[in-house]
Amino acid sequence: MQLKQMYRQWWKEGVVYQIYPRSFQDSNGDGVGDLQGIIKRLDYIASLGVDIVWLNPIYKSPNNDNGYDISDYRDIMDEFGTMADFDELLAGFHARGIKVVMDLVVNHSSSEHEWFKQACSSRDNPYRDYYHWWPAEKGTPPERWSFFDEEGSAWAYHEPTDAYYLHYFDKTQPDLNWENPKVREEIFDMMHFWFKKGIDGFRMDVITFISKHDDYPVFEGVHGDAMIDVYAQGPRLHQYLHEMNREVLQHYDIMTVAEGPGTNLDNIHDLVDEDRQELNMNYHFEHVELGVDQRKIVNADFQNLVKYKEIMSAWATTFDEKGWGTQWHTNHDFPRQVTWFGDDSPAHRVQSSKLLSTFLLTMRGTPYYYMGDEIGMTNAKFDSIDDYNDLMTINWYNLTKNEGGDAEMLLESHKLSGRDNARTPIQWDDSANAGFTTGKPWLKVTGNYPEINVAAQEEDPDSPLNYFRQLTRLRKENLTLVYGAYELLLPDDEHIYAFTRKLDDEVILVLLNYSSHQQHCALEPALIGDNVMINNYPSLQSDDSGYTLEPWQAVVIRIA
Ligand code: GLC
Ligand code: CA
Repeated sequence: MQLKQMYRQWWKEGVVYQIYPRSFQDSNGDGVGDLQGIIKRLDYIASLGVDIVWLNPIYKSPNNDNGYDISDYRDIMDEFGTMADFDELLAGFHARGIKVVMDLVVNHSSSEHEWFKQACSSRDNPYRDYYHWWPAEKGTPPERWSFFDEEGSAWAYHEPTDAYYLHYFDKTQPDLNWENPKVREEIFDMMHFWFKKGIDGFRMDVITFISKHDDYPVFEGVHGDAMIDVYAQGPRLHQYLHEMNREVLQHYDIMTVAEGPGTNLDNIHDLVDEDRQELNMNYHFEHVELGVDQRKIVNADFQNLVKYKEIMSAWATTFDEKGWGTQWHTNHDFPRQVTWFGDDSPAHRVQSSKLLSTFLLTMRGTPYYYMGDEIGMTNAKFDSIDDYNDLMTINWYNLTKNEGGDAEMLLESHKLSGRDNARTPIQWDDSANAGFTTGKPWLKVTGNYPEINVAAQEEDPDSPLNYFRQLTRLRKENLTLVYGAYELLLPDDEHIYAFTRKLDDEVILVLLNYSSHQQHCALEPALIGDNVMINNYPSLQSDDSGYTLEPWQAVVIRIA
């Protein structure tokens, strides 16, 4: 690839750091992270060398789904602070050269939103059509699967108006009716409101679901989470996103990223190719779904590196000519990277978390890095359902129990796969509650905080934290790591992930040992010495037969 042919953009060259505000830093002792807490940590965030921050929802919300149920799109959640706090936070990020991306949750609102309250008041209220209804006189509505419902159904019966409303997520998250032009207008106005405040983009929650199929047909033979793919094929999805682009997005220098359940290699270009004028980037789920069945029960594909490489490689190369991709290991919906993709045992935690960070920051596609991974935070692995806050784990536990299924097995799997694992408070230091709060944290702090915390790692030049800082610098200083062509080597190797990045005349080799044992890698060894750009071990062994990599060793070498 030639740099001069690349369509350069700040959102391709930047590293995104995701902040889940509830768990970042509490400033007033109520046990809940807040905007003033983030303000206190602005210099820390800037010290990481990240360029863009994505904030999970901070809007007014009854918090049934931790802010993904919004009751007022133009105001701040009481627990998080005020609009003045937000303005201060935004200015603080901008002063440090960091852009701010907000969550846009418009597939559904909260059932506490004024629109929904109005819609529920009578069948002919002007807001009725802001949501999707099925009048009971038409009989039982066609099957729709819900992500979170305790009974698994996405239709909830509303007695006062004798009708069902649609909720792909929880009952308290009714789906907005995008078919109604007034709804689209309200949403676009609200987006302008935030852009005029100066925000730099949106991460769009389950945006692939906004267009529903006319008249709610039966999806023949499709049940359970297989409905995700059908939900993502609504007939007017691209029409709405194009309209959003024309009405709103194109007027600002901003970035957009779709959370894209149901996206795949066949349909992704319709969403992100430049000439489509829809969105900039998308994130898919293929790699995080490898190793789990329905309800996140862990299966035999867990940590299957060969299949993983196949998925990552296909997604990395599909944007060679058009569009642009993302790289991520986790977020607030998935387990900690070191537990899921690495080895979080005391012997290998540090090296495996450094390896995983190396992967994200040397791959093609914008890296989305989740808070706490820079210190190698691990899964919380709660033993009891009572420790969980997440309605997904709780509702599935109850659903499984009601069906007479194995709820204990679900709990065991969720120690590895559950969403609350990544939602525990950031471990700042070894004081009570890890320095997150002086009160009682809303979700338990993970027990290993006395060993794994920011303060200890600041002192240690070899810590995952300081290694991450080296990585962000490395990416910034090497456009080959951003724009260079990606090529997979040794596709069938079960332990080694090796690939090159090539731009103009430069070639960079990335060697990663995804195992807790030494591995030999039969690649013709290059001159190493000064050409090693980063290495999570003090040295690299090689001889005529190739390289020998230590457990979870990660090395980046300039080979041409
Ligand atoms: C997305 C969010 C998740 C939320 C869901 C419903 O998947 O990331 O946290 O529960 O959408 O809004
Ligand atoms: Ca607080």
